[in-house]
Amino acid sequence: PENVGILGMEIYFPKTYVAQEDLEKFDGVSAGKYTVGLGQTNMSFCGDREDIYSLSLNAVSNLLEKYNVDPHSIGRLEVGTETVIDKAKSIKTVLMDLFAASGNTSIDGIDTINACYGGTSALHNALQWIESSYWDGRNAIVVAGDIAVYEKGPARPTGGAGVVAMLIGPNAPITFESGLRGVHMENVYDFYKPDMESEYPRVDGKLSISCYLRAIDNCYGRYRNTFERKYSPSKFDLSQVDYAIFHSPYNKLVQKSFGRMLYNDFLNNPNEEKFKSLQQYASLKPEETYFNTDLEKALISLSKEDYNTKVAPSTLLAKQLGNTYCGSTYSGLLSLFNERSKDLIGKRVLTFSYGSGLSASAFSFKVRSSIEEMVQKVDLKNRLDARTRVTPEEFTSTLTLREQRHNLKDYTPSDSVNSLFPNSFYLKRVDDVGRRQYDRT
Ligand code: ACO
Repeated sequence: PENVGILGMEIYFPKTYVAQEDLEKFDGVSAGKYTVGLGQTNMSFCGDREDIYSLSLNAVSNLLEKYNVDPHSIGRLEVGTETVIDKAKSIKTVLMDLFAASGNTSIDGIDTINACYGGTSALHNALQWIESSYWDGRNAIVVAGDIAVYEKGPARPTGGAGVVAMLIGPNAPITFESGLRGVHMENVYDFYKPDMESEYPRVDGKLSISCYLRAIDNCYGRYRNTFERKYSPSKFDLSQVDYAIFHSPYNKLVQKSFGRMLYNDFLNNPNEEKFKSLQQYASLKPEETYFNTDLEKALISLSKEDYNTKVAPSTLLAKQLGNTYCGSTYSGLLSLFNERSKDLIGKRVLTFSYGSGLSASAFSFKVRSSIEEMVQKVDLKNRLDARTRVTPEEFTSTLTLREQRHNLKDYTPSDSVNSLFPNSFYLKRVDDVGRRQYDRT
């Protein structure tokens, strides 16, 4: 198969959001801490009518409907998430309901879990299936997303919610650059969820940031190696990249991460004229610079112009929804498509995906033909505008309600279904043995 990649995309996000400027006041932190310090604008969240099953049902059913997908044309469907509500049953099995009427039960794939990286692993599985001897000519669907919630405290404003669904197949307008990938994985406890009785993670914020930046260094360098092998004698640095997309826990880290890529270019070619202002940092060990604020400032300033053209267009959804964990990187693709739909043909997009614990990779894709129809179908701007801004008080009491409802059996959710977008799946009831039933608004 030729030109394997993304044939169509869709995202589902909750109708409700809280504004970060309201949260700053409510939390009593200094004005600008969340909006400038973290670089975030709004944060999506859901009540007890929504869970990862309903969010995924919405993302996939919208994808099938908007792109008029023949259910028999799908041979693989897998889900990347870290929002786990059942220790055995995969979300994928729930999504089989959407194919029941067609009679197509021959759909391979299950769930993949590792913090924010499951979606990328699922995507890579789908691409590799299509390139393998097991491929039978059908397309794949990859679902990537989460409900990201933190306990009260400094991490809470870095939550979010949303699920992306991607239709993957040959002859796609968006094609992955085969063979180009830089991977980094290690064992670390930066963010993890050992508490089955709680939806909240344990997180060591500072450690997670240093892990993220170390993963950039490794993935970027290894991506460069694969690039220079494939396109020898071409050299790789950021000038080969038209756009860059990052997993976005919060926007400030994305700004720093793009600067970090420039730092890697500098280490690789320290004598280039454009790096004159960085010479004083040449002798530092990279692993000792994760929190070097002078270096950070120098890199952010040197990469600022490129950041605005190459990175900013992909940050729209992550700033509006917050961290959608597995969905974050792919909300970046949708944002870029939405913001630059007319300027993407022939362009290379470098993508960095990170999941705590940790697993990460850098890879790239190119846009081959027009994606304007896709952008119209997704209709981001109108859907974002149709959301409802709620108060931090309501946001906080909703998260308290989710805490109380977590793991509960034999209950009917109490949130109003009027707070959902029309035509959405929602949780109707959880029975006395934990089986979930859904309905549609
Ligand atoms: N105006 C402007 N900027 C401000 C203001 C203000 N009033 N107040 C603070 N800031 C800046 C700080 O200087 C800091 O900037 P810097 O990062 O450039 O130094 C930034 O805002 C954040 O402030 P901190 O005091 O560092 O924030 P805090 O330690 O309270 O929390 C953290 C931040 C650690 C990111 C926390 O939100 C967290 O733990 N989040 C979850 C972990 C996470 O997202 N990790 C990323 C990778 S792993 C993953 O994806 C889950």
